[in-house]
Amino acid sequence: MDKGYFIKQMRAQQRWRLEDSINLLPSENVTSPQVRALLSSDFGHRYTLPVNTEYAGEFLENGYRGTKITTEIEIAAEKVAREVFGSRHACVQPLSGHIAAMIAIVAVTRRGDGMCSISMEHGGYDGYGQAYIPDILGLKASHLPFDMNRHTIDTTRATKLIRNKKPRLVILGASFIPFPYEMGPLRDACEDTDSVLAYDGSHVLGLIAGGIFQSPLKEGARILYGSTHKSFFGPQGGLIVTDEDDMDRQIRKNLTWRIVDNVHWNRVGALGQALLESKKFGGRYAKQVVRNAKRLGKELTQRGFPLMFEERGFTESHQLLIDIKGLKKAFGMTINDFSIMMEKSNLIIDSVARLGTSEITRMGVKEKDIPELASIFMEAAEGKNARKKTKCFRERFDMTYILP
Ligand SMILES: Cc1ncc(COP(=O)(O)O)c(C=O)c1O
Repeated sequence: MDKGYFIKQMRAQQRWRLEDSINLLPSENVTSPQVRALLSSDFGHRYTLPVNTEYAGEFLENGYRGTKITTEIEIAAEKVAREVFGSRHACVQPLSGHIAAMIAIVAVTRRGDGMCSISMEHGGYDGYGQAYIPDILGLKASHLPFDMNRHTIDTTRATKLIRNKKPRLVILGASFIPFPYEMGPLRDACEDTDSVLAYDGSHVLGLIAGGIFQSPLKEGARILYGSTHKSFFGPQGGLIVTDEDDMDRQIRKNLTWRIVDNVHWNRVGALGQALLESKKFGGRYAKQVVRNAKRLGKELTQRGFPLMFEERGFTESHQLLIDIKGLKKAFGMTINDFSIMMEKSNLIIDSVARLGTSEITRMGVKEKDIPELASIFMEAAEGKNARKKTKCFRERFDMTYILP
């Protein structure tokens, strides 16, 4: 292999994903140059023990040296996370959303306990299926009743189920999440049964940070956690916030040498920077993400593209859901074949029927730009090659990813 192979591949990837194509995946986002600089910085070479690492009731001494600045960025990143999420505690150590989920689940459950979440069939996160996290941790998984027509939890049936089954843990949040949940009755049922209500905000963390969609901690969740790179424009990683001192302690007890060791300090520095950016323009960004999603829904529907929930304004998040039956009828294609065809026009979408507007918003796309994007999308959807138009559209936007 050529000694420059990986550098060449990196350049090709940067050109393809940052210059030539448009990303409509709801699971991804892009970061600022400052965040990227931190990700490739010296912090990524180093170890240190997280502050407040406890063993058998004692705080442990840090055995590493050369750690002064690393420890300072850990403390600062947690401070700015607390400010952004308005929480009493924040933990920036989880390496990903999935690891954040594991830490949160381990912190509140014991083997044999029940946990209840939204099923995969209803857009819930695969990791909460019995074969995955519950299997590793010896938990019994069950599912919250769901109203597919309104794409939200069936609160009446869900509160009954919580009262009957008394699961130790109830997790809200999902991979398909166009609308917020009615949390009040679920919180009351959890309080009555001594169940812990948690919120996996992986997909909507950038909206929550921007003060929209919903405020899980204020609405009754005792823990909020998730990925920091989907609607939130941070590095790939995870975050946990809570208002409860005991919960924070349980979370930290389950970090070092249980679920993580080195927490990748370049990621923590980069996350701190992204959180600072969120403090500055996260509110404006989040509102624009949702405005762009609603407008994209309207423009695509007007051009004959089948989307769900037109009657409800399509979405309250960064996600639009494609009507797969309608797609088959209108375009004679499965969503998998459709997503492969769209990629030929450099339009990146997933094969599970979601579109997302986080990354285009970060590029600087506003509602006025959406009709043109919808027309390019439709050309590609009709099987024409829209590659040149995609690139031309893309080139008009700023590569610095700082909203004007
Ligand atoms: C709802 C939800 N939770 C957790 C995860 C896992 O996140 P990560 O990829 O950061 O580990 C995902 C990933 O898509 C998700 O959709």
